[in-house]
Amino acid sequence: MQTKLTIISPDDWHLHLRNGEVLSKVLPFTSRHFQRAIVMPNLQPPVLCAADANIYRDEIVAAIPDGHNFTPLMVLYLTEQTDPEDVRKGFLAGELVAVKLYPAGATTNSDAGVKDIEKIYPVLEVMQEIGMPFLVHGEVVDADVDIFDREAVFIDQKLIPIRQRFPNLKIVFEHITTKDGVDYVKSCNENTAATVTTHHLVINRNAMLVGGIQPHYYCLPVAKRELHRLALVQAVTSGDKRFFLGTDSAPHLAQYKESSCGCAGIFNVANTLPILAQVFERENTLENLEKFVSLNGPLFYNLPVNTGTMTLLRSETPHALPDDVVTNDGVIKVFDPKMAIHWRVSQA
Ligand code: NCD
Ligand code: ZN
Repeated sequence: MQTKLTIISPDDWHLHLRNGEVLSKVLPFTSRHFQRAIVMPNLQPPVLCAADANIYRDEIVAAIPDGHNFTPLMVLYLTEQTDPEDVRKGFLAGELVAVKLYPAGATTNSDAGVKDIEKIYPVLEVMQEIGMPFLVHGEVVDADVDIFDREAVFIDQKLIPIRQRFPNLKIVFEHITTKDGVDYVKSCNENTAATVTTHHLVINRNAMLVGGIQPHYYCLPVAKRELHRLALVQAVTSGDKRFFLGTDSAPHLAQYKESSCGCAGIFNVANTLPILAQVFERENTLENLEKFVSLNGPLFYNLPVNTGTMTLLRSETPHALPDDVVTNDGVIKVFDPKMAIHWRVSQA
């Protein structure tokens, strides 16, 4: 049995860092293992223009612990008022790496998002021209669409028309959760890719709903049936270059999740790499882990591959879950994959 694996340093292509004290508490879990991360802009208020992104970047950089080598990649929160020229300038200046679509009402802090997709076509026009990735939260928000179907319906109603209208736009279908998402991405050329989270590779909707409501397994898009989880595992462990890691690590204080209206998001970044090693080991595809976490992302984003390396070690005895994160306002619970994890990141 393989007990050691060395890979190029990984990146996280979908991450929520928040700000203030939570940022300073959660960032070290990312910066000790990941060299770069796509930082989601759904703050309150959101990151609406290149100037906002610069301020947020400075706040993140100030919170990086000494000795950690980490670069945040900044993303704009798309609204119907976004100025295409601000997007162009920000991208060409290297201040912005991508733009994120939140359909209004789809998820945490998405109220300022987009209601009418056609209104953002001028921005997409510019992004297609300059080769800037368009990151999509792919769920419809119609009250009459079942929450478990919202991703599949989004493909037909929104994604296919956008793709037809902008054939050369680089699109990342974020945190896909369904076989429909996998099949759609596989049917496209290299201009379409998808991120897959850590948790959607190891849980299905039972984790959230069996034995009582389990708020720490609630995230958006919501986990689906087992057949969808299996399709995600197959896609990422195959090494297909269109799939790469976006942890979607989304910290919330436990009291806001354990509530009569619990919020969506799973904090998984403290144990993501050990869990992923376990998933790839189970499929006998450890050799493809590096593609998923370190190679496929930069290839799509047209960025250099990292130069450092990371070593993962396997031990006979499984490891304990990392401690929860303590803040002045409450704790942030670490994702419990409910499976034995024998891998750890070597700190040497
Ligand atoms: C994210 C958050 O909390 O910001 N929550 C989540 O469940 N994934 C928002 C998002 O990515 O949809
Ligand atoms: Zn997210």
